[in-house]
Amino acid sequence: MKTYAVRGAITVKENNREQILMQTRFLLEELMKKNAIKIQDIISIIFTATSDLNTEYPAVAARELGMTSIPLICCQEMNVVGSLSKCIRVLMHVQFSEERILTPVYLGKAAILRPDLANLTVAIDGPAGAGKSTVAKLLAKKLNIMYLDTGAMYRAMGLKVIENGGDPSNRDDVIPLLESTDIAVRPNNTGQTVYLDGRDVTDKIRSSYVSKAASDVGTIPEVRKKLVRIQQQIANKFSLVMDGRDIGTYVLPYATLKVFLTASPEERARRRWKELLGRGCTVDFKTVLQEIIERDANDSNRTYAPLRKADDAVLIDSTNKSIEQVVNEIVYLMKS
Ligand code: DC
Repeated sequence: MKTYAVRGAITVKENNREQILMQTRFLLEELMKKNAIKIQDIISIIFTATSDLNTEYPAVAARELGMTSIPLICCQEMNVVGSLSKCIRVLMHVQFSEERILTPVYLGKAAILRPDLANLTVAIDGPAGAGKSTVAKLLAKKLNIMYLDTGAMYRAMGLKVIENGGDPSNRDDVIPLLESTDIAVRPNNTGQTVYLDGRDVTDKIRSSYVSKAASDVGTIPEVRKKLVRIQQQIANKFSLVMDGRDIGTYVLPYATLKVFLTASPEERARRRWKELLGRGCTVDFKTVLQEIIERDANDSNRTYAPLRKADDAVLIDSTNKSIEQVVNEIVYLMKS
């Protein structure tokens, strides 16, 4: 017989008996299903719970699953400052007659413990200029996971239509181009490189005429379906922070954490204006504010997948907050 150990973890919303038993049961079932473990394969299980979970022993859930004669023990996890709260961890020892490779299971916010092994997904939605991309980039770096800027994909599509002499708001100009358009993103040190039909368009898509074109092509359902499919395929493979307009509502309905990041239109326009001045563009504040208001209306009033806060998203208003404050707030939300 060959002996193995496999790890798992899950988070619990509330410190109550029902939640602890339900989540522990779910964790054990997932761990066993994923690794084809039968009750008779299990030698012993060690459970730990963080000190904020004290209304039931996780081992009771294992007994209820029929593990009546397996040695089990429950311990308290070390209470390390800033660590994930309301978390149940499991270390299961098993034996098989054949060789096996076992896969650990990290569920709910416990994915933050091992984003390299689990599918940790953070959805950040909000209007233009709310600070999504800066926050998302920093957060991804902090969590050591990928960052995906979905707006860049709509921008690339908008650019394609313009370069073909079309009107990005006219579906008859856009739809015929869709099938032959290849949009790809690759992570790099500062965020991501965006390719349109194999050409690097990372800088080109940042101009304000492309912003408007992106918002226009984003109202066309066929465009959204194509780009959402690519975004979901990436999210199935990698732990990531994804920002956009419809991530929490549509692209990642089961994201580990959803944030709706906003700020007043004036503050968002002020940030965009400063950024444009910094890039040497001479533009007046009023024009930038007007563009922001128009883009908000375009993104929020479209019928298909409009910009909207998901019911289970946490609202953060960044008007009077620094980027660091927002990032720290999200990390806190991830861990609590
Ligand atoms: O985030 P951004 O400014 O780069 O996005 C450009 C435009 O693309 C934005 O006005 C709306 C559209 N968009 C969208 O419709 N859905 C997304 N998930 C991301 C962007």
